[in-house]
Amino acid sequence: MKRNLNQKLIDLVEYYNLINSNLLLSKTPLKRIDTIKTHVFTGTKIEKLNKLKNKIQLIKNCDLKKSATKQVFSDGNINSKIMIIGEGPGANEDAIGKPFVGRAGKLLDKMLSSIKLDRTKVYISNVVNYRPPENRKPTDDEIKRYLPYLKSHIEIINPKILLLLGSTALNALIGDEVVISKARGKWIQKEIGASNPWIIASFHPAFLMRQPEQKKLAWIDLKMIRDKSKKLKI
Ligand code: URA
Repeated sequence: MKRNLNQKLIDLVEYYNLINSNLLLSKTPLKRIDTIKTHVFTGTKIEKLNKLKNKIQLIKNCDLKKSATKQVFSDGNINSKIMIIGEGPGANEDAIGKPFVGRAGKLLDKMLSSIKLDRTKVYISNVVNYRPPENRKPTDDEIKRYLPYLKSHIEIINPKILLLLGSTALNALIGDEVVISKARGKWIQKEIGASNPWIIASFHPAFLMRQPEQKKLAWIDLKMIRDKSKKLKI
């Protein structure tokens, strides 16, 4: 009887060690990113992209829209099999209406050219399509608000490779529990709507401008993209 009780206690301790009690006891709801529905559009690729753009234009009560001047939707080749996602537009992007046209964009262009890519060969967008004031990071609510549109965007482009630049894009699409320094340089395949791209995260060019010693790691990630493109015959 006593032995039985001891065994039960051991089993119980093992069981509690197996489950994440922090998650069980936490009052904050789990972010179930994968349950967020995408918007479905019909027509050709260009028609679908235009419908998505119009839908984003119609978003109401969004704080970002109060200060931003333009929607920043995308740049690059809509038929590319490589899609790149940044965080959100800055002042230059807001003025011109295209992603990555400022200093971070120049560095992104250099990074791409190091693996023989340019904007005619990739497609680029951001987690949010309007400039956050003072270039702050988009808030969790803003990210959540734009996520269904971003997922639809990925679904329409249907890339084979998805490069997430920085923690905002990584956390929006993969989840909050991952950090960029640990998650970068690793391939994962994940369904996003009807699309099932190979996903890799790397450092954001703006971060690399502040921490140039990290460029050697970004170079490793770029070479991984180059090798994967060859393997996938992109
Ligand atoms: N940083 C981003 O994340 N996106 C841009 O478009 C420009 C800078």
